[in-house]
Amino acid sequence: MAASSSSSLCYCSCRWLMFVVIAVLVVLAGSSSAQLSTSFYSKTCPNVFGAVKSAVQSAVSKEKRMGASLLRLFFHDCFVNGCDGSILLDDTSSFTGEKTAGPNNNSARGFNVIDAAKSKVEKVCPGVVSCADILAIAARDSVTILGGPSWNVKVGRRDSKTASQSAANRGIPGPASSLSALISRFQSLGLSTTDLVSLSGAHTIGQARCTVFRSRIYNETNIDASFAKRRQRSCPRTTGSGDNNLAPLDFQTPTAFDNAYFKNLISKKGLLHSDQVLFNGGSTDSLVKKYNSNPKSFLSDFISAMIRMGDISPLTGSNGEIRKNCRKVN
Ligand code: HEM
Ligand SMILES: *[C@@H]1O[C@H](CO)[C@@H](O)[C@H](O)[C@H]1NC(C)=O
Ligand SMILES: *[C@@H]1O[C@H](CO)[C@@H](O)[C@H](O)[C@H]1NC(C)=O
Repeated sequence: MAASSSSSLCYCSCRWLMFVVIAVLVVLAGSSSAQLSTSFYSKTCPNVFGAVKSAVQSAVSKEKRMGASLLRLFFHDCFVNGCDGSILLDDTSSFTGEKTAGPNNNSARGFNVIDAAKSKVEKVCPGVVSCADILAIAARDSVTILGGPSWNVKVGRRDSKTASQSAANRGIPGPASSLSALISRFQSLGLSTTDLVSLSGAHTIGQARCTVFRSRIYNETNIDASFAKRRQRSCPRTTGSGDNNLAPLDFQTPTAFDNAYFKNLISKKGLLHSDQVLFNGGSTDSLVKKYNSNPKSFLSDFISAMIRMGDISPLTGSNGEIRKNCRKVN
């Protein structure tokens, strides 16, 4: 009697233990971002960081804007099915990829620099480092080279085997977005309102086309009048004329990673509608003011937000692949 009851107790608790073990494994497999780490390649490719940096350095020394373009490429990768290198894939007969999606077509650039970095990396450790990781490292290097902060990049991402134009059209916020739309899109990816405002500080570098700021400079009222006039000179009112004419996102220091972006917002000189909504009497005004008066708080929030953005749904373990060529699945 006693024996039978103790054996049924064991039967019961063993099943319970097994259940707990399986549940823990399932949770670990699901939260794959936990597997990204700064030391992922320390044994298999310790030179990956030097190889990527030299490619980025050489591209940015030829054209400073390239640093901005690479930073944006990483954002556009992460916001579409996670940071999985999907933006780097060329279209194929089986899918139309992200390169021709609205937010990227005639706009996303820097693919040749990622190819150059990939071939440097392949020379030192073939078949080991993903294109998704190379993009994450290149984004960090770009910020640092243009005078911004540095930080340790988490790696261990793998590359997607597919890409989706429609996912890119849905996933990347447009320049006409309202503040509440921006907040909710960032929130849906696990990014806070603080992440939204600090990451938008990336618009302290780089350029935008007339077509994305035309309606702001002709039609909006929360814009400095002389700034609007100045921008109108190289961006004609009529849709279709001068659409690709460029203007700096930060008119003060367009190639320096600093906090001038926030100063611009306070003086109503944000170039995009989606920039100025961050300082337009709403809930994010106070953060803009803080980043204006305390540049260090901007830099440290920007770093945290870049790390969080880089953690969005990576492929890890046996998911995805390590592409040989960043433009094509193996
Ligand atoms: C908050 C929502 C955002 C919107 C609506 C937005 C929108 C835009 C638009 C419309 C452009 C100009 C594209 C063109 O005319 O070709 C642009 C450029 C840029 N964006 Fe954003 N962006 C956002 C967030 C971000 C984030 C989070 C980053 C990076 C952390 C970023 C980095 C950049 C950079 C660096 C450029 C200049 C690229 C170049 O010169 O090639 N943006 N953005
Ligand atoms: C991308 O831009 C090209 C050149 O302007 C244009 O011909 C093409 O229709 C655009 N593609 C899409 C999918 O909008
Ligand atoms: C400005 O707004 C008017 C009225 O909504 C619209 O017809 C016009 O196309 C807009 N102009 C620009 C340059 O966006």
